[in-house]
Amino acid sequence: MYVESPRYTERFGSVRINDIQKVIALDSGLKTEIPPHGAMGVVKICEDTIKKFEEKLAVVVPVKNEKLKLFEGVISGIPHDCLIIVVSNSHREPVDRFRMERDALNQMCRYTYRQAYIVHQKDSFVAEAIKKAGYDELLDEDGLVRDGKAEGMVIGLLMAKLAEKEYIGFVDADNYSPGSILEYVRIYAAAFSMGKSPYVMVRILWHYKPKFSGGTYFKKWGRVSETTNRCFNSLISSRTGFETNIIKTGNAGEHAMSLKLAELLPYASGYAVEPQELVSIFEQFGGSLPSGPDDVVRHGLDLFQIETRNPHLHEEKGTEHLNGMLLDGLSTIYHSPLCDRETKQLIISQLTAQKTLKSKKELPAPHINRPPSQVDIREFARHMDSRLETYSALHEE
Ligand code: GDD
Ligand code: MG
Repeated sequence: MYVESPRYTERFGSVRINDIQKVIALDSGLKTEIPPHGAMGVVKICEDTIKKFEEKLAVVVPVKNEKLKLFEGVISGIPHDCLIIVVSNSHREPVDRFRMERDALNQMCRYTYRQAYIVHQKDSFVAEAIKKAGYDELLDEDGLVRDGKAEGMVIGLLMAKLAEKEYIGFVDADNYSPGSILEYVRIYAAAFSMGKSPYVMVRILWHYKPKFSGGTYFKKWGRVSETTNRCFNSLISSRTGFETNIIKTGNAGEHAMSLKLAELLPYASGYAVEPQELVSIFEQFGGSLPSGPDDVVRHGLDLFQIETRNPHLHEEKGTEHLNGMLLDGLSTIYHSPLCDRETKQLIISQLTAQKTLKSKKELPAPHINRPPSQVDIREFARHMDSRLETYSALHEE
């Protein structure tokens, strides 16, 4: 794969925020030598390097009632050497959609000789293990894991830890294009290989997100991402005193990181999760507030934002869904101790202009699930170990 080299990096405390790097070509061939004039500003990531990182990577697929054909396509696009972890919150009645997902995963794994785990978000044994770890905020009043994409991601993270993976990546299950899933994961591996620090995160920017209405329009920026990025940039500008537009992936659902970093971050409920990750990185390592672990400060943290070649084709879930996502995301910035008065005003004015909010009283603080490093992961592992096999996609009942 050929990717633009990180040509521009802004520093915010210990965080190295790399500006967008485009994928130049999806494949870079077997020849290891490239002529010097061909290499200017471009990084070649060899196939061996990509495979080396894929082996250490768990890819978590959160899914809730998506079309089975889309789910099948998504899992077929995940590179063979990655461990797939599906966390499903799909209905079990009147039709057992979870069962259908498990069967599809089982079939693919059986015929392609690979390993995968699949867990239901409302599995009572998993909830018990989470309780044992002292991760109570992840549970609802019935003692089961709360609804929400973020909560599914946290289960995936704990499973990845159990499987002793070093990296974790996320891909949504409602993607129409298996080829773009393959690209996302190759980008994750490419970014890990470019990182200088063991604390690394990569966030995907889609080349285009086409809209179909009569014809096709290759739209680049959505309303939610445009607004979220603007508010993030306002927050950074207020702290550094230099206006910036460095953040272009504030909402990125497709993203990946080293487990070392993943364990240090809190996870905000539902769709607030991705903006909250960035907010927390800036809070802990941006240098304005008391710093997180010394080791991160020593190594620094590499944040990559990489633009795909493939367009992003996924299920459209409507305006109300998008408004909720915008509100959840901006609330993470608004309620951060880093957030200055101007950025707060910007958030309220954006939300009221877009008719998502009537008054600022309606901007509740997000529900935050503590960083996994603050719970007893070993206790979770001890409890899960005895039944781990039953979550394998190859397990027959
Ligand atoms: N396990 C689980 N539990 N999965 C869920 C849940 C849940 O409660 N709710 C949704 N999902 C799954 C969906 O099935 C899908 O695979 C994925 O999470 C993303 O949900 P969507 O509802 O499709 O979100 P979106 O497409 O509007 O937004 C996506 O892109 C945004 C911008 O990049 C999400 O990834 C957002 O988190 C992201 O900010
Ligand atoms: Mg979607």
